[in-house]
Amino acid sequence: MRKKIVAGNWKMNLLENEVIDYIQELEQLYSFKPDDVELIIFPSSIYLDSLINLPNYDLGVGAQDCSANDNGAFTGEISASMLASFKDEDKNEINYCLVGHSERRKYHNEANELLSKKVNQLIQNDLTPVYCCGETIEERNDGELFDVIEKQLKEGVFHLSMENFKKVIIAYEPVWAIGTGVTATKEQAQEMHQFIRQKIADKYNEEIAENTSILYGGSCKPSNANELFSQPDIDGGLIGGASLKPESFIQIAQSF
Ligand code: PGA
Repeated sequence: MRKKIVAGNWKMNLLENEVIDYIQELEQLYSFKPDDVELIIFPSSIYLDSLINLPNYDLGVGAQDCSANDNGAFTGEISASMLASFKDEDKNEINYCLVGHSERRKYHNEANELLSKKVNQLIQNDLTPVYCCGETIEERNDGELFDVIEKQLKEGVFHLSMENFKKVIIAYEPVWAIGTGVTATKEQAQEMHQFIRQKIADKYNEEIAENTSILYGGSCKPSNANELFSQPDIDGGLIGGASLKPESFIQIAQSF
């Protein structure tokens, strides 16, 4: 059975005192989270330490990005091995990392080839890549949406061996739905999730496809999470804006 996941991508939001308040508020609400749903938060990197050390509850923690290189003279970058070095059995750990979020693709010109190297770094360090893919509105309107997603998958993650691909989570995030308030309809999202799962089955096998969690992202919020998550191939969400308030984040986790 694949995991149900609700992941919060904080992007470049929240100040230190707000993070402390958030962690405390989430603790009050945590008992409302269904047991079979995993919560993950992707904070700015300076808050990773607070998120693994402070909460008294189970929380998956992930970085928003990592370097494509091992180590060395790469000012401002964080390596996958640094993220992995925080592993400690008594605490929450950094287990995840986003790769290829559309904002990284757009503002930092990150292309599939570079992203595949980041994926490799994470796999080598036993971290789970959450590989983001999604088409722009122009690509959708031009009927190129399936080709775009297939290319992103082929060039970003399908080089992995079967064993290594099992560690990957996919996030389908149509670019036109991110931060816009316009959500993909449940039919549009399901159609693409099904397509992605089929591509995984074609590349690897049915069993791996069935076990891969595929999250939806793009203006997902408490009012629409349920209809999205009730689709057969949607295993949860990668939530931006609506994850910045613990209450709506937990409400989304209750939406399966
Ligand atoms: P949004 O962002 O929920 O604010 O649309 C989602 C994301 O970019 O991961």
